[in-house]
Amino acid sequence: METHTDLIELLQHARHVAVLTGAGVSAESGIPTFRDAQTGMWAQFDPEELASPAGFRRNPRLIWEWYAWRRELVAKAEPNPGHLALAELERRVPRLTLITQNVDGLHQRAGSAAPIELHGNIGRVTCSAEGVVIEQWDEAGDELPPRCPRCGAHLRPDVVWFGELLPEEAMAAAWDAARSCDLFLSIGTSGLVEPAASLPRVALQSGATVVVINLDVTTAARPPLYTINARSGELLPKLLRAAWPT
Ligand code: OAD
Repeated sequence: METHTDLIELLQHARHVAVLTGAGVSAESGIPTFRDAQTGMWAQFDPEELASPAGFRRNPRLIWEWYAWRRELVAKAEPNPGHLALAELERRVPRLTLITQNVDGLHQRAGSAAPIELHGNIGRVTCSAEGVVIEQWDEAGDELPPRCPRCGAHLRPDVVWFGELLPEEAMAAAWDAARSCDLFLSIGTSGLVEPAASLPRVALQSGATVVVINLDVTTAARPPLYTINARSGELLPKLLRAAWPT
């Protein structure tokens, strides 16, 4: 309870808030997370098979179809109150940098202006040979994945796979935000995948207050590090209403 009172004040006085989100923020929209036992994607599927360049070389069709299934899930999903609260927070504080590991585009659909997408976006497709974004392709034939209309290589989702580098500009902007913010919120991420996992530490070392919100925080923390065990779709709207009652 005390933590919440502190956090409300921190939000009200922050000049630059950086927010890092992970799969947990979209869980209440019905998109499975990766590492939650039973329901997490990696409890059912092998990341080496479905989210690596080697897996794509071995079985490109399987991977194309898996992402097509995820794209459908995302298309049917709606942003939840957590996404909406983050979009509202952006309008309330002087500056907010939203950094997401999610590829589902739900922050944009909730109204966040320009989230930094560290792991790409499942809605975009690139050429696996040239890396350029492809807007139109022919999926009418039997062959999956479809071929690049420019060079004939297989198309792939524009997401970052294990062993691949993150988009350079996005990562640079994320480091900048972690170094310059005064409040850093890490929400719905297990913090196990680098380099995103290092952002809260960098923020802490640079003098920011860091608040970790997810369902598996176990470490006891004290200011300037706070940990809150809560669902983002429940907690974030409450915090917003408490910080800005009108
Ligand atoms: P994880 O599945 O590793 O972690 C999800 C986190 O969200 C856990 O800490 C849960 O406790 C928490 N959580 C679940 N439901 C929540 C809710 N309603 N509100 C708040 N928290 C909740 O997902 P990420 O940390 O996003 O990368 O995973 C990082 C990266 O690993 C992903 O971007 C993906 C994956 O492999 C790639 O595919 C490259």
